[in-house]
Formats: sequence, C-alpha cells, structure tokens
Amino acid sequence: MAMTKPQVGLIGLGTMGAALALNIAEKGFPIAVWNRTASVTAEFHAGAGALAAQIVPTDTLAGLVAAMAPPRSIILMVPAGKPVDDMLAQLAKHLAPEDLVIDAGNANFHDTNRRTAQGLPFRFMGIGVSGGEAGARHGPAIMAGGTRQDWDRMAGVFRAIAAQADDGTPCADHMGEAGAGHFVKAVHNGIEYADMQMIAEVYGVMRDGLGLTAPQIAPILARWNEGVLRSYLVEISAAVAGAVDPVTGGPLLDMIVDAAGQKGTGRWTAIEAQNLGTPVPVIEAAVMARNVSSRRGERAAGEALYGPAPTRATLPVGDLEQALIAGKILCYAQGFTMMTAAADEFGWALDMPAIARVWRAGCIIRSAMLNDMAEALAQDPTRNLMLAPFFADLLRQTTPALRRVVAQGALHGLGLPALSAGLAWFDLMRTARGTANMIQGQRDYFGLHGFRRLDGLDHPHGPWASS
Ligand code: 6PG
Repeated sequence: MAMTKPQVGLIGLGTMGAALALNIAEKGFPIAVWNRTASVTAEFHAGAGALAAQIVPTDTLAGLVAAMAPPRSIILMVPAGKPVDDMLAQLAKHLAPEDLVIDAGNANFHDTNRRTAQGLPFRFMGIGVSGGEAGARHGPAIMAGGTRQDWDRMAGVFRAIAAQADDGTPCADHMGEAGAGHFVKAVHNGIEYADMQMIAEVYGVMRDGLGLTAPQIAPILARWNEGVLRSYLVEISAAVAGAVDPVTGGPLLDMIVDAAGQKGTGRWTAIEAQNLGTPVPVIEAAVMARNVSSRRGERAAGEALYGPAPTRATLPVGDLEQALIAGKILCYAQGFTMMTAAADEFGWALDMPAIARVWRAGCIIRSAMLNDMAEALAQDPTRNLMLAPFFADLLRQTTPALRRVVAQGALHGLGLPALSAGLAWFDLMRTARGTANMIQGQRDYFGLHGFRRLDGLDHPHGPWASS
C-alpha cells in the first residue's frame, strides 16, 4: 500500500535532526526529509531499517515541498543563527501561507521573536528541544513557542515523540507566543550549566580537598543519585567518574583536559537575566567558570606564581551532598524568578508549574526535585521557591552544610564559584535590613540622586547636598 503523502517534513539530518526524524517516523507519522548534502539523506534513509517505509527522502528543497501534502509542517534542524535565516529565505520561495516552519534548533529567543515579527510568508514556531541525541531519538522534552493555534496543530506530534514523566504526562507543552519556547530552553541550558558546575565543584572538593580518587568518587555520586539529588546529571557524573581509560587502564576522568566548551546558551541566560534585573548568580558563576576553565595557560602561570592551593579540607562527604541540594534549590529559585520577570517583560503567559513539569523527563536537567518544584509552583506560581514551605524546610536542613563547604573552599583554596554565589544570594535574600542604604547615601553624595527614608519623612538629600 502506498504511503500517504507526509504532512510532516524535516530539514537537516545532523545528529539531532536524524534522531528526531526517526522518532517521528517510529510514532507513526510519515515524514519527508531533506539535507543540503544529498548523500547524507541517502545514507540516513538506507540506515533507517524498518522505519524507512515511513520516510520520504528528497534531493532538493522543491522536491521536499512537492513530496508533502498541504498544509505542511516542516521542522528545521539546522545550526542556530544565519543558517536558519538563510533557510527561511529559501523556504519563502516554495511554501504557502498555511504551511508551518518549526525551528527546533537552539535559537536565541530574540531571533525567534524577530522572525515571528518579520512577516514571513508562512506560519512559524520556535521550539526548544532538550535531551541530546538519545532524547531526540527516544523522547526529548519539548518547550514550544508560537501561536496557540500552531501549537494545537502540532501538539499530537510533539506529545507523541516527547518523553513521558513518571505519571505518564508527555513532556511537551506550549510555553507561550513567539520566542517563549526558545527562552525557556535557554533558561534550561543556564540551569544545565549551573547543575553541571556545582557537581564539578563538589567533585573538586572530593578530589583536591579530601584526596579521593575518581573510582572512590563514582560510588559516592551513585549513592547521591538514590536520594534527593536523583537526576540525570548526577547519574552520568557517577558514570563519568567510574569510567576506565582504555589506553592507560586508569580513571578516564583523570585524562580529560580541564577546559569546558560551550555553544553559548548558558551565556544568553546570564545576559538576559541582567537585562531583566533578575540576577541568576549561580548560572552566572557557572558561565564564568567555563570561561576560566579554558584559560589553561594563565591558570598554570597563576599556580607557578602563587604555588598550589593549600587544599586538604576537613569535611564529611555528607556535607557535600547537602551543599549540592541547597545549591540546586537556590539555582532553580533564581531561574524561575527570572522566568516570571521575563513573562511580564515579553507579555508571555509562562506557566511556571507547567515548565517544571515539562522538565521532569527527557531533558538534560531532569530530576526528582522537579516534581516537588512543580507542586510548590502550582500552589503559588510567582513565589520565589526559597520561600515555598517545602523548600524552606529543605534549605533550613541543608544550608548549614553549604556554609561549611563554602568556608572550607575559601580556607583551602578550592574555588567554588557557583556554590558560593548560591550562598551569597541566599544570605542577601534572607536579610530584611540590607546594606544598600550605604549605596543610596553614596549615590546621593556624588550625584544628588536622592533616597527614601525609613520613617517616610520627606528629606530628598543628605546634609552633604548643601555643602
Ligand atoms: C540539551 C542541551 C543541548 C546543548 C548541549 C551543549 O538540552 O539537550 O542543552 O541543547 O546544546 O548541552 O551545550 P553547550 O555546548 O553550550 O555546553
């Protein structure tokens, strides 16, 4: 029997595009595919096994469009930035107004806002897709942006291909108009950076402060993954720490160069948080630490000049687990607060509990704690999570250990930027009488900027104004 003409298409058969196309085909949606290099398309189709029957390979963009039944829905999986704009310009020559193009790459949400507003001659959505290759193939988390009408049109496909949370809910949802989906994905990636950095920091304390080897660290992380910290990133960190180097037979982790790469999405979150005036210091610290990690020559010169850090901390390993729990709560509290501010700024109806629910499975930051976050946010969507009763209890239990860990880091020369930033933010946020009265006094002194008085009296300037 001939296959019905696909209404779904996909452009860009790189690692993520190919995995997504197979996932879509497997869930019973016929799909037409096209890649700029024709041999890639042919190889992909030849390697699709039983799913090949659901897939229509095409050689040209015109061929892709002709192979599909209108109204078409074409997923773009090309590198973010100019390649997306170039592809949209090409598609404009072929598509009808009711056709829909879905940018599923890691676009900057400002680009998605711009593309939505620029009056493309077809419908347009931007969706954040998380979960790496395995997620794309077997169930990613999908954060969709665009009109409600286009979401409704695609929801069946997105929900079918997405990961499912433990309660069976698909991890695909509509985040809001225009760039909302890519924005939520950027915050996801910022949190991804922070989660990874905080795990790297406690790994560093275990390695340099406590003198533990990678094979000793692996089971500790694996044990944490059985408790409050249960998450994909802790799970894979245990696996990374336990891996044996096939070349030397020693721990592979000890052979990996200590310079982290980045494509930029974590940085966008830090920049946007500053623009919105809702800082995300744990994420900012993680971005900073990645940048510092790549300056290996300078770091070596620093060590030669100042000598190695004193190291040798005295600390129970349990403190590190507690510190990680506290740091994680504080990081997410910052991330959700930032999203609340963005919803106001950009006019998006971002649904905080829905975001926490979408992140429960499929994505890189999936974790057990997101269930509790979804519940806390359902009770009060705009509340800073550190003020939610469930997390306040957890923070009361875990911040003493976070304090000890940060203090040990400071005493023994172990850099812990993300954990320290989390603690500093916590201390600022739990202090009713802060120190900005001094800032206001200074501003008035040198710039006559004025200040408000605690007693409400009308006294716009200090006595220095008259001198
Ligand atoms: C995901 C990831 C993914 C990201 C990589 C690399 O959710 O699947 O966030 O989208 O591209 O993790 O990001 P960096 O190169 O910036 O580390």
